[in-house]
Amino acid sequence: MFMRIARAGTAGSKTQIKVTRTEPLRARRPAVLTAVSNPVLPFNQILIGDCIERLERLPAACVDLVFADPPYNLQLEGTLSRPDQSLVDGVDDAWDKFSSFGDYDAFTRAWLAAIRRVMKPDATIFVIGSYHNIFRVGTILQDLGFWILNDIVWHKANPMPNFRGRRFTNAHETMIWAARSADTKAYTFNYEALKAGNEDCQMRSDWFLPICTGAERLKNDKGAKVHPTQKPEALLARILLSASNVGDVVLDPFFGSGTTGAVAKRLGRSFIGLERDAAYAKAAKARIAAVEPLPEGAVAIAPSKRTQPRVAFAEVVEAGLIAAGDILVDEKKRYRAMVRADGTVSLFDNGSSAAIVGSIHKIGALAQGLPACNGWTFWHTENGGKLAPLDNLRNAFRATMQAAE
Ligand SMILES: C[S@@+](CC[C@H](N)C(=O)[O-])C[C@H]1O[C@@H](n2cnc3c(N)ncnc32)[C@H](O)[C@@H]1O
Repeated sequence: MFMRIARAGTAGSKTQIKVTRTEPLRARRPAVLTAVSNPVLPFNQILIGDCIERLERLPAACVDLVFADPPYNLQLEGTLSRPDQSLVDGVDDAWDKFSSFGDYDAFTRAWLAAIRRVMKPDATIFVIGSYHNIFRVGTILQDLGFWILNDIVWHKANPMPNFRGRRFTNAHETMIWAARSADTKAYTFNYEALKAGNEDCQMRSDWFLPICTGAERLKNDKGAKVHPTQKPEALLARILLSASNVGDVVLDPFFGSGTTGAVAKRLGRSFIGLERDAAYAKAAKARIAAVEPLPEGAVAIAPSKRTQPRVAFAEVVEAGLIAAGDILVDEKKRYRAMVRADGTVSLFDNGSSAAIVGSIHKIGALAQGLPACNGWTFWHTENGGKLAPLDNLRNAFRATMQAAE
């Protein structure tokens, strides 16, 4: 057992409070307070060292999103071979060894508490793990005051088989997504962009993605894996696109081969990486240097309907995008309505203008006998035999508004 007991003892919440609030500690812990009093953040850098010690040197509330892929505490005993007797390249590294569950829990509590301090009030965290550790992590997250938003199953398209045939194939990992606290209300979740990219269906909590193989897998000059648990970039891309925006700061306290940094750079986010092993950090640095950021237009989140300015149909009429007297039809041409000068519409009944007048929504609902209707998508204009929803006119109106700003 190495370092962990000491770390767990020094990185609890008491230490954090003293670091940020008391003067006398300044003399005792100069390295911590230099960074706190001079909050120049180490953007796009990999800080080598124990993550808990490194976190203590960062100012409070400085990151927008955390991705953490901590040691799994796999407790592997002996070697594992395939049916052809070749050895399985498992995770048997020193960084994954803990003397007991208690030891692992103390470590987990210490790094999660240190992370929580550096999270902005609206920041969120993703922690990935397997059955070996994720339940312990989940309990500790809740004990520390984090608020769990989802657990996401990463369903592996190409999992490693269970060579001994004594258990089910272990084909998934679990990610807990949590807010800093139950009071966190304005966290980033790019709901509409995710939905638009998912065939207009809500993004679900089961993600089917392959494990990292092929050209993406970092190898040394002997062809061996540089890191035993390199995560796929597609997984990190989905996380960053879901829960951060361009320009946000993403922290990864267990940086490994730098997957988070590579994806952050490509997607226009900043990163802070913490990694204890200098060789991994060196490989990560070279990897990230080779990444080309995507053009801004390709990464900016599609504007959400909720954040777009409201437009009244009367404004569209006033702007001359449609004229009073024009006829609207539904997609199947079952109903007809006439546009009126004040931005209301009147429903046609058997070809004559009836006395039923109201908003595009109300008249759309009335025509169908439904309680509600979105008039922007229900009503269409007809031009040269082609139908186009009123929504197109609303978008055109918004575009002219933006151009005029
Ligand atoms: C599961 S791996 C992360 C792999 C990474 N997500 C990737 O895609 O390459 C965990 C990493 O955390 C590092 N690590 C373990 N304990 C640490 C600690 N106390 N402080 C900083 N890094 C640590 C290990 O060296 C290892 O690279």
